[in-house]
Amino acid sequence: MATAGQIRPINEDKMNAFLGKVVGDFGAALSSALVYIGQKLGLYKAMAGDEPVTPAELAQKTSTNERYICEWLINQAAGGYVDYDAASGRYSLSPEQAVALTDEASPFFVGGGFYVVKAMTAAVSRIENAFKNGGGMLWGEHDPDLFVGTERFFRPGYAAHLVASWIPALTGVEEKLKAEGKVADIGCGHGSSTVIMAQAYPTSKFWGFDNHEKSIETARQRAKDAGVSDRVTFEVANASDFPDQQYDMIAFFDCLHDMGDPVSACKRAFATLADDGAVLIVEPMAGNTVEENFNIIGRTFAGASTLCCTANSMALNGPALGAVATEDAIRDTVLAGGFTQFRRATETPFNRIFEAKR
Ligand SMILES: C[S@@+](CC[C@H](N)C(=O)[O-])C[C@H]1O[C@@H](n2cnc3c(N)ncnc32)[C@H](O)[C@@H]1O
Repeated sequence: MATAGQIRPINEDKMNAFLGKVVGDFGAALSSALVYIGQKLGLYKAMAGDEPVTPAELAQKTSTNERYICEWLINQAAGGYVDYDAASGRYSLSPEQAVALTDEASPFFVGGGFYVVKAMTAAVSRIENAFKNGGGMLWGEHDPDLFVGTERFFRPGYAAHLVASWIPALTGVEEKLKAEGKVADIGCGHGSSTVIMAQAYPTSKFWGFDNHEKSIETARQRAKDAGVSDRVTFEVANASDFPDQQYDMIAFFDCLHDMGDPVSACKRAFATLADDGAVLIVEPMAGNTVEENFNIIGRTFAGASTLCCTANSMALNGPALGAVATEDAIRDTVLAGGFTQFRRATETPFNRIFEAKR
């Protein structure tokens, strides 16, 4: 072991490999901002499924400045987000790039993630201050792109899995929802999960609750647009005191770990759940040990957790479970709320799906 003042030898190959990785991260971080711009300005949509374009043609199609488009396209091609044909000087999207960057109905759509990254990194000064002085930052204090980004980022996964596999993995819930079930969606945000369930189970009733008023306003509009307002009620309410309907299912989509008082939220779920009902808790994929998070997913979720999830709970003097909370930490929280049964019902590469029952 090196002692203070001793110079440790540097392995040149390891140094070069590490610096290569760092430069890759510089490029990725800057490209992320440019992908956000591409999403906002419809640059990918203008390229999808069409003939390859020159920078001038793309600028013309999107009413943007050609000089910026030139630079943007070089960055995008260098990062593998668009393809370039040197012979013609034209850029295009492959079918895979087009789906991932433009098709909001696809489970592969990733556009919303760049809104989330943009909004979370805008919080860096606040979070730096919290590192030194404690406290945190409430969900509602973030750049509004966080709310729309979260909706756009999570919706494709909910559309692909929620009705097809997550609800069927719970004990006896699907039958109830196919009849006349009652569902509460706690921390519903813009209500994408609520609306997806309402569309799939037309004889059931749904309540979405969130303590962020602006999100509830948007969720109401989403329900109207989807034509399900007659069976979906969105209300501003805290997870610890939302209205009681003796629900057949109470869901927490990507929010329990953010909460200032997740045990109170579980207690409220326990009190308002029908005797044979079930709680669905969707949490980011994370390991049961620290080192199981040392991968691209753990890196992403631990980053989001530091800038947003942990900070929300810290702002409320909460337990700060965070986005990479272990299964044990989630179980302890749920059991402290009064539940006696807790299990991992299913999972995807990005999510753990837990069920709690009385
Ligand atoms: C990461 S977002 C997830 C939103 C939504 N469930 C989704 O999956 O798209 C977390 C949500 O939890 C809400 N939230 C956090 N703490 C809450 C509490 N104590 N009561 C109600 N909502 C809460 C936030 O306002 C935010 O909308």
